Amino acid sequence: MEQYNKLNNIKDDTMSLKTVNFYYFSGTGNTFLVAKKMEATFSRNGVKVNLYRIEDSKPDDINLEHAIGLGFPIAEFSTYDFVWNFVKSLPEAKGTNVFMVATFGGISGGVVGSMSEILKNKGYTPIGAEEIVMPPNIFYVQDEKTCSVKIEKGIKKAEEYAMDLMSGKSRWDSASVFSDMAYYISTACLKLTEMSINQKLIHLKTDIEKCTKCGICIKLCPVGNICVKNEYPEHGFECRYCLRCTSFCPAKAISCPINYKGKTYRAVKARELVK
Ligand SMILES: Cc1cc2nc3c(=O)[nH]c(=O)nc-3n(C[C@H](O)[C@H](O)[C@H](O)COP(=O)(O)O)c2cc1C
Ligand code: SF4
Ligand code: SF4
Repeated sequence: MEQYNKLNNIKDDTMSLKTVNFYYFSGTGNTFLVAKKMEATFSRNGVKVNLYRIEDSKPDDINLEHAIGLGFPIAEFSTYDFVWNFVKSLPEAKGTNVFMVATFGGISGGVVGSMSEILKNKGYTPIGAEEIVMPPNIFYVQDEKTCSVKIEKGIKKAEEYAMDLMSGKSRWDSASVFSDMAYYISTACLKLTEMSINQKLIHLKTDIEKCTKCGICIKLCPVGNICVKNEYPEHGFECRYCLRCTSFCPAKAISCPINYKGKTYRAVKARELVK
């Protein structure tokens, strides 16, 4: 009966959510899986979805007549600067609906309130924000079984969230003193990472003994931080630590110095994230 009512609600309310342009970034595949599940749920209920990678998208090209979805991972209680820059560069709107979904390992705080304020000030209507627990891809990568249970739960939550967005049940809270504080703390953490990379403390590098020169890491890097030098990939100092290169290198030639025992995580195949 509950399901029946849910579906009835959806029918009445999809009027306001006919088409969604969904912009996402995913380092190691978790956010990609969530975005794909939401896309499938929307489509099943008659809502058209266009999925776009944030790293390939220009905010100026955005169609403000359709609802906008934003998907990204939590990084250092916040998210990557290129995701913030994308959101901050969105054009001024007159009430365009927008929702966000973030995936994370379990501790967040610096995004939901602050992003809602930015979007409201630009004239958008924030209709929903959800943070979905998925396997952590950093520090301590869990065993396969634990990861697949978490993925299953996360995907289910993504489906429920899409249903809530369609039925008008979802919410996106405004910034509070706590979220403002969390935003400033996370901005400081991101700065610290940048400094650590610059100081070569956590710099990623290629082991040329293992590298097969396949070039996948270069294609995957969202910020063009890897170039070829003396035939082998070399990391620059613009790294944002999304972990794509180290996670998807088929030869395991890029070690991850901050992960426990260097173990890497990926939720999908590299081809799903490559341009
Ligand atoms: C640099 C970095 C920082 C992270 N910081 C956090 C964090 O502050 N809190 C958290 O719960 N998870 C954190 N994570 C874990 C990711 O948010 C999580 O695994 C996410 O689902 C990865 O999504 P993706 O596969 O789409 O990149 C971090 C991951 C990375 C790579
Ligand atoms: S993905 Fe790995 S093997 Fe391929 S070029 Fe990069 S470092 Fe070398
Ligand atoms: S160098 Fe690797 S970890 Fe750094 S931004 Fe590029 S793909 Fe991500």
